[in-house]
Amino acid sequence: MDDTILITFANQKGGVGKTTLCAIFANYLVKKGCPVMIVDCDAQQSIKERRKNDLLVYGGEDMKLPYEVISFDISKTEQLLVFIENLRQSRGIVLIDSPGTLDLQGLVILLASSDFIVCPFHYDKTTIPSTVSFIALVERIRNEMGKRMSAQLILIPNKQDPRVGKRDELVLWDETREAFSNYGIVTPKITVRADMERFSTISDLDNQLEIVSPAFDVIYKEIFGTTESLIK
Ligand SMILES: Nc1ncnc2c1ncn2[C@@H]1O[C@H](COP(=O)(O)OP(=O)(O)O)[C@@H](O)[C@H]1O
Ligand SMILES: [Mg+2]
Repeated sequence: MDDTILITFANQKGGVGKTTLCAIFANYLVKKGCPVMIVDCDAQQSIKERRKNDLLVYGGEDMKLPYEVISFDISKTEQLLVFIENLRQSRGIVLIDSPGTLDLQGLVILLASSDFIVCPFHYDKTTIPSTVSFIALVERIRNEMGKRMSAQLILIPNKQDPRVGKRDELVLWDETREAFSNYGIVTPKITVRADMERFSTISDLDNQLEIVSPAFDVIYKEIFGTTESLIK
């Protein structure tokens, strides 16, 4: 692959799985043979910190890493466009973990510059309205930018608990899926699983790729037109 593809994980709601899915998607892409890097733009620096700890656990400074993790403070809006321009010179897929906030000019610039915006959400009383506001923000930016913005919105229903959900709740969820699909691609659900509570930036953990594959295959297919691995 020659082009750089920028994928931003975003939703102003915290706890929906932006950081977790960003890191696990990197592991998924490595398995597929894609060159990938992560830009950690969250103030909490969870992925950057995880990488530091992974290095301590898995081995020395000189070990070969599956991908690079760098960080950037998107509140530095004057430097952000140059930073994104530089990212576009790198090879492969750049995954960006964004902070959970809406009132950030930096986030708007990031979203406008992305090729894909991946928005995890789950079905609960506060997350759905927050996700609706996020979708509305993306639409506003789209209207303002016109043809200059080409980002495809991908919505991932995450932390789905298959045991809960009364009949009328299930109907509501289906309606949400249908409504959201007017604005982006809604992937298959990712279930809530203890295996998903941790992630590694060096080796993929047991069972994780199996859990996320139905959803991630949809994104992969959008990028490459196939779910086939790049490694022959
Ligand atoms: N599919 C899942 N199953 C179980 N736990 C999950 C899943 N996705 C995310 N989590 C957990 O939910 C919490 C919030 O996830 P996180 O990725 O930090 O969200 P965000 O970055 O949107 O704030 C974390 O404790 C994470 O381990
Ligand atoms: Mg996060």
